[in-house]
This record gives sequence, C-alpha cells and structure tokens, in this order.
Amino acid sequence: MAETKRIYLDHAATTPIHPDVLEVMLPYYQESFGNPSSLHTLGRKAKKAIDEARARVASLIGADPSEIVFTSGGTEADNLAIRGVAYALEPKGRHIITSAIEHHAVLNTCKYLEQRGFRVSYLPVDNYGLVDPDDVKKAITPETILITIMHANNEVGTIEPITEIGLIAKEKGIPFHSDAVQTVGKIPVDVDSLNVDLLSISSHKIYGPKGIGTLYIRKGMDIVPLIYGGEHERSLRAGTENVPGIVGLGKACEIALRDLEVQRDHLNDLRDRLQTQIIESIPHIHVNGHPLKRLPHILNISFESIEGEAIIANLDIKGVAASAGAACASGDIEPSHVLSAMRVSPDMAIGTVRFSLGRENAKEDIDYTTAILEEGVRKLRSMCPLADNTNLKRQCIITFSDPQYAVLSEKALDEKGLKFALTSLPHQTDRSSNCNVALLFMCENEKEIVSLLEKQGIEIEDIHRLEGPIRAIRLGGLKQKEAEFWSQR
Ligand SMILES: Cc1ncc(COP(=O)(O)O)c(C=O)c1O
Repeated sequence: MAETKRIYLDHAATTPIHPDVLEVMLPYYQESFGNPSSLHTLGRKAKKAIDEARARVASLIGADPSEIVFTSGGTEADNLAIRGVAYALEPKGRHIITSAIEHHAVLNTCKYLEQRGFRVSYLPVDNYGLVDPDDVKKAITPETILITIMHANNEVGTIEPITEIGLIAKEKGIPFHSDAVQTVGKIPVDVDSLNVDLLSISSHKIYGPKGIGTLYIRKGMDIVPLIYGGEHERSLRAGTENVPGIVGLGKACEIALRDLEVQRDHLNDLRDRLQTQIIESIPHIHVNGHPLKRLPHILNISFESIEGEAIIANLDIKGVAASAGAACASGDIEPSHVLSAMRVSPDMAIGTVRFSLGRENAKEDIDYTTAILEEGVRKLRSMCPLADNTNLKRQCIITFSDPQYAVLSEKALDEKGLKFALTSLPHQTDRSSNCNVALLFMCENEKEIVSLLEKQGIEIEDIHRLEGPIRAIRLGGLKQKEAEFWSQR
C-alpha cells in the first residue's frame, strides 16, 4: 500500500526539532559532555555554552541574561513562578488571581495552592476568550500576592491584554506572571512592554528539544526555589544543567528571533487560507477565539453534530495530525474547560478541532487537509441522528488491528455505495490500540458489510453494537432523550 502523506498540523502540542538546533546540540552529548560546574576545560566549555544560550533566550524576550532560569519546560516554569512567589510572599497575603482558561500547568498549581490555604480567583472570559482588565482590577484585594494570566491561549489562540493587566499589577505593586509558552517565537514578546515580572517559555513549542524551558524572573523579584540542592541557576533550580537541551533552546530562540516576521506572515497566510476554505466548503461550523487578537498559528473550529475525536480519526488515517478540543474522560466526552469558559455549548464543544500550523507547512497541505476534512465531515454527518432525524437507528462500530484495514474498508464500502463513516474508537475500548480509527455504520447493514469486508480479506478485530446512534449515546444531554426514544419502541 502506498505511503500515506504526512501533514502535521499540531504544532501547539509540540514541534519537530529544527535541524540546525539538533546539530548544535549533538556535540554536548558526545565530545563536549562536561559538567558546567567542573573547573576543567570540558566543564568550562559547557558553562560557556550555557551562558551563550542564556543570552540568546534573553534577547528573544528583551530580558537580561541574569533574569533567565532554565527549567525542565513550561510546566515547571509555571510551577516555579506561581508556587515560588506564593511561598515567598505568603507572609504578606494568600490571594492569587488567574483566569479560567489557563493551561493545566497553571490551573492545577493554583488548585494545589488552594488545598494549602491560598485563595484563588479564576476570572471569567468573554465569548472570544478575552480576560477583561477591569475584572483583574476588581479582583485585587490587600491580600493579593500574584496575578497570573496567560499571554495567549493554547486552544483557541486568543491573545490576552497582558500589557494593560501588567500595568494594573505594576500600579498595585503585585507580581505579574504570564505563561507565554504559545506566544514566544510566534509574535513579538518583550518583557518590559508587556509589564510582566515572570514569564514562562517552553522549548519544544519553538522547534527546540523537549524537556527544557525557561522562567524569566525580573531582577529583584521575591521568589523561592522548588528544588533544593547545588547552586545551579542562582540556587533557583538545583541540579546539573541539561546542557544539550539548553544549547538547543538557545539556538531555537536565535532562529525564532531571526525568522519571526517571515514566519508570522507565513502562518497568518496559511491559517487564513485554512479558515476560508473550511468556511466555504463546510456548513454549520463555528470559528472559536478572537477574530483579530489571535495567534498566527492556531485555528479552532467547532463542527456541529459530530465529534472532534471522530474528525481527528478521519484526518489521521489520511495522514493529517490535528487535535480534538474535547477529551474522553471515563467513557464520556468532557468538553474543554477553555471552550466551556467561553460559553461554547457542550454540543458544539465536543465537535471541536484545533489546527495548529508550523514553519514546514505549505499551501498544498492546507488544500489537501480541507479536501479530506470536507469528505470526513460529510460522511460523519450522514451518520448523525441530529443531522437527519429519521436516522435514530442502532449503529455498529468495527475496530481493526491495523489502520490499513480501515483504509481498505473505506475503499470497499465506497465502491459499493454503502453508508458509513470512519470514526474514533468506542470509548470503552483500549485507547492505546495500534489502530485508532474504526468503521461506523447502521446495524441493519451489519451482515452485508461484514461479509463484504471478509471477502476483501480485511481482518475485523471487534464489532460493537451500540444501543442507538453513537453521538446520541455519548452526549450527556441527549442520553436522556435517547433513552426515552428507545424505551418508547
Ligand atoms: C500554554 C501552555 N502552558 C504550558 C504548557 C506546558 O509546557 P511543557 O510541555 O513544556 O511542560 C503548554 C504545553 O502545551 C502550553 O500550551
């Protein structure tokens, strides 16, 4: 079978390492492996490499190199900022302000602090995902010791009014942290114009290696470490430095700064192309996030009447990687906390897909993606009880041991003109399966479809006979409706 074309549209999750980044890292695993704390030549070489990388990171965000602390990534940077300041300033007060749409690295850190007696205000956002600076002002109390609001949201790409919020924090003398994991390297980030005191960066979102990041800490900030040990990173983060990772992050920052404008235009063009094509070819969709105050690389769309996971499965089998906006949690679908905070209905939220573009994407990738997306959505909607009310019949799902069988099934069923769709695995099945695409069809066609597949030599792993139409079963609100429907039969 021909190699499937691979198009990666999930750069907000992680990015491939830039070849120039990998190249500068490799010597630090091999001939230049020294410990930067060692006084001999190898050690000094490693120390010099770290100093140079620190300067590169600092210059991307307009900071002084002495204000850069290397961490294991964005999550640790967020933890260090929030817990580090909270513990340092605890004697002054125990109130923190954040937003409802933060990454879990921030939200769960705040939740942890709540268990330890801190009070946290989770500010609401508007329908575009914007925090209102007035809400920040109103939430401040004499007890407030930290404000932490993300620079831009990782799901919908909305850019927050950080400069204004930072000004409010500055006037009140409250430390201000921003999670800039999705903005650094994508749009200009300058710690002084943003009025931030602490800023989190992650390397693997900007074509650097995984497991390394940075917390920018403004000079004079009151903060305590989370990890104790040696005097590495000005005693703010003990442990022998990840030299290759730090060198890689430094190079990634240098490239990001060099290419910032070109890449921003490139990503803006591709995102607009994808958005326009989807709007023109697929009805009943909604673009989530702010229409103007948005990141160049993120496009978040809700598709009515179908599930994001099913769309992802369709795209995946055709070689396109994107992300669903809802997670499967204990058999049910859990709409994302970001979309919920933006008041996107659960019904729409579960049909959400995030496309996030990167430097290696081209116009042809976008055109191909729209074409397969349109086909996948059309087929899924044809199986959807909400799109066609006469369709409230039982449905079956066939799972396969190998994705190739799903591709072959699609071909065979298309040729016969049978009604079906490729979808995600039933939620009760093993999610680590080798094949995450399944075949969905009406149970009334089971015999015909199974015998057709068997004739083609397609191996069926399992057949799941559902209690009704799949989407109706999965949707909490519709579950009740659906139960009533079946009880009346
Ligand atoms: C906004 C935001 N903050 C924090 C993180 C966590 O970064 P890391 O994966 O480097 O721990 C992510 C990663 O998805 C993110 O998007």
